[in-house]
Amino acid sequence: MRLLVLGGTAWLGQQVVVTALKRGHFVAALARGESGSVPPGAVVVRADRSRPDAYEVVRTQDWDAVLDVSRQPGQVRQATAALHERSQTYIFVSSGNVYADTSVPHQNENAPVLDPLTGDVMESMETYGEAKVACENAVRDTFGGDRMLVARSGLIGGPGDTFDRTGYWPLRFSRPAVSDGRVLVPDVPELLTQVIDVRDLANWLVDAAENKVHGTFNTTGESIPLPEHLDVARHVAGHTGPVVKARPHWLMAQDIEPWAGERSLPLWLPVPEYAGFSSRDSAAARAAGLRHRPLEETLADTLAWERARPEYGHRRYKRHAGLSDFDEAELLSLLS
Ligand SMILES: NC(=O)c1ccc[n+]([C@@H]2O[C@H](COP(=O)([O-])OP(=O)(O)OC[C@H]3O[C@@H](n4cnc5c(N)ncnc54)[C@H](OP(=O)(O)O)[C@@H]3O)[C@@H](O)[C@H]2O)c1
Repeated sequence: MRLLVLGGTAWLGQQVVVTALKRGHFVAALARGESGSVPPGAVVVRADRSRPDAYEVVRTQDWDAVLDVSRQPGQVRQATAALHERSQTYIFVSSGNVYADTSVPHQNENAPVLDPLTGDVMESMETYGEAKVACENAVRDTFGGDRMLVARSGLIGGPGDTFDRTGYWPLRFSRPAVSDGRVLVPDVPELLTQVIDVRDLANWLVDAAENKVHGTFNTTGESIPLPEHLDVARHVAGHTGPVVKARPHWLMAQDIEPWAGERSLPLWLPVPEYAGFSSRDSAAARAAGLRHRPLEETLADTLAWERARPEYGHRRYKRHAGLSDFDEAELLSLLS
């Protein structure tokens, strides 16, 4: 198979390139090279997708599939227009953020989506969902339902997660902030998590390209209640200390953010407002071959990756998600 990845220098794109190369496919990756490097073995096409000539080189070739990770509608419109006669299939990596209602659990792909972003450029993450809808529409309009695949991904996790969301819990349990080993967790037993391992998502995307799977699919991890997810993180970290549960209203009163960011507790979401965000129905993708490794493997491998990071030795390095040791110790002292 000849696969063109629009991207391939960041986390998922690199994983797709590596997966396809391992299976013996011919892979080219088009990017500026600002996010990282293209894995060895792929053809590197340096191009800036904001320029009108971005696809000049790749549009001279025939492709079995193009895989695009963009969030910029203008980039996707331009790429689909340039490549619709050169590629059999267009695979677009979208997001569960396209859905209009985050509160309804277990929604499938037929649930209403947001209005598409107008204009070519997503200026801020505030309109990420709308931008992805506009990107999806561009792919549908150009490639039609029988030549396109839209994968609406849920939270991606695993080794390489520089967003720091999936590594936070195994790392925190392996390295509590206080000497008696207490760890603070959000007390939201009703909340589901759906982390999809980046390697499983990449495997499925390459499978789908090989098998010409078409349509729109929720590609999320298995639905696992937050307490169970935290138990698995605790297990892989070998944590035996006390677990201190804090109710959401108390955490919010202390200015702790859900999900991500500084002073946050990753994977926690306010319910019922976000009860649907981590509980999408991905039965269709599983029926089309999506397979998940056990969460234990994902979290153990993520912890190993966290421990190998150059920052690991510096306990006070700033992470993109989670509580600092200082913040966690302070919160625990308020609860004792
Ligand atoms: N992380 C999650 O939990 C999550 C959840 C749901 C969905 N998703 C989706 O999953 C995908 C993740 O993809 P990813 O990990 O590969 O990361 P990404 O950060 O979305 O990658 C963006 C890619 O596009 C390239 N790019 C950006 N601007 C460009 C330009 N002007 N010209 C050429 N190339 C450009 C970047 O390369 P250069 O900067 O090197 O040019 C990079 O390779 C995305 O579609 C994301 O929306 C993620």
